[in-house]
Amino acid sequence: MSYASGRHFLQIPGPTNVPDRVLRAMAAPTIDHRGPEFGVLGREVLAELKPIFKTRHPVIIYPASGTGAWEAALVNTLSPGDRVLMCETGWFASLWQQMAKRLGLEPELIPTDWRHGADPAAIEERLEQDRAHAIKAVGVVHNETSTGVVSRIGEVRKAIDRARHPALLLVDTISSLASVDFRMDEWGVDVTVAGSQKGLMLPPGLSFNAVSTRALAAAKSSKLPKSFWGWDEMLAHNKNGYFPYTPATNLLYGLREALKMLNDEGLENVFARHTRHGEATRRAVAAWGLEVLCANPAEYSGSLTAVLMPAGHSADRLRKVVLEAFDMSLGTGLGRLADKVFRIGHLGHFNDLTLAGTLSGVEMGLQRAGVPHEPAGVRAALDFLAA
Ligand SMILES: Cc1ncc(COP(=O)(O)O)c(C=O)c1O
Repeated sequence: MSYASGRHFLQIPGPTNVPDRVLRAMAAPTIDHRGPEFGVLGREVLAELKPIFKTRHPVIIYPASGTGAWEAALVNTLSPGDRVLMCETGWFASLWQQMAKRLGLEPELIPTDWRHGADPAAIEERLEQDRAHAIKAVGVVHNETSTGVVSRIGEVRKAIDRARHPALLLVDTISSLASVDFRMDEWGVDVTVAGSQKGLMLPPGLSFNAVSTRALAAAKSSKLPKSFWGWDEMLAHNKNGYFPYTPATNLLYGLREALKMLNDEGLENVFARHTRHGEATRRAVAAWGLEVLCANPAEYSGSLTAVLMPAGHSADRLRKVVLEAFDMSLGTGLGRLADKVFRIGHLGHFNDLTLAGTLSGVEMGLQRAGVPHEPAGVRAALDFLAA
């Protein structure tokens, strides 16, 4: 590919743009991960992560992508043949369910049309039928990155409580942590799964489990094999800021800096910023005369917006035009949404002008690709942002 001047616009819904401050923080010599300096770093990041999850429980850091943290959540809490109730909100929820099957669990699926989040009433109904408590866990993806739909985790918690069911609540916050409000302790989440490459503004390579007291108790009797993912050894070492194996030291330098940035902005301001950019983006989509995939306004995502293409037009062709002409990457449609939607990431290190540039790239791309639309989306978003 020939040299493209200016900055590439990485507007997929993660990995997200890494701030210069974080890049600089990572560009430091790797230190002895068993030496005293590392212990200080380890203790600091392990403590500072907790408020981001809104938890007082331990947070575990793996040198792995988000998929690893999914596996860790399952193998630490469950035993072969255990039933897991999972809500098929989109592509990532389906992958998590496939993983559960491969690990020897028995996932039971509540389907959706991929335009709505997990249905608390359907969860309640299924759990009420399960009088023998065969279902050991409920797995929900908070922000479904393939659809831009947010499941209402607080409502899911209430549904489980109304059914008086002891199932653990496992929640994937890979594309919501530090961008969409998430309250682990208030919502009684037992295991929170997260990753570094989205709201935390880091490169890919770290993932997380935040672990409730009930989850730790379940881990004591869980029989699925685990070694690398084992919480027990990890927590024993984490007490002093260390890890049972070699940690991703330079990513932890980046994490320390990213946590400072989030604290400086204030977590609630971070959520408000994402909500506002989601709203501006949806105004642009509506003004283009296109449709947002998420069908329930109560479930709109602040992290990303999936946009439906008009019938007969290819989302992948549009994305190709935008990449080649304007050097911007947009998210592809996944699974059954392949070629039918494109996804605009508006999360992480992002501001009004980044959004203005992103929407301009989409609008010019729609024109160049010959996709029918009203060229009024950028105007609508700017009016909203300027007001
Ligand atoms: C909601 C969600 N869950 C799980 C994953 C898988 O994480 P990873 O690709 O980091 O392994 C992703 C990746 O984008 C995701 O968005």
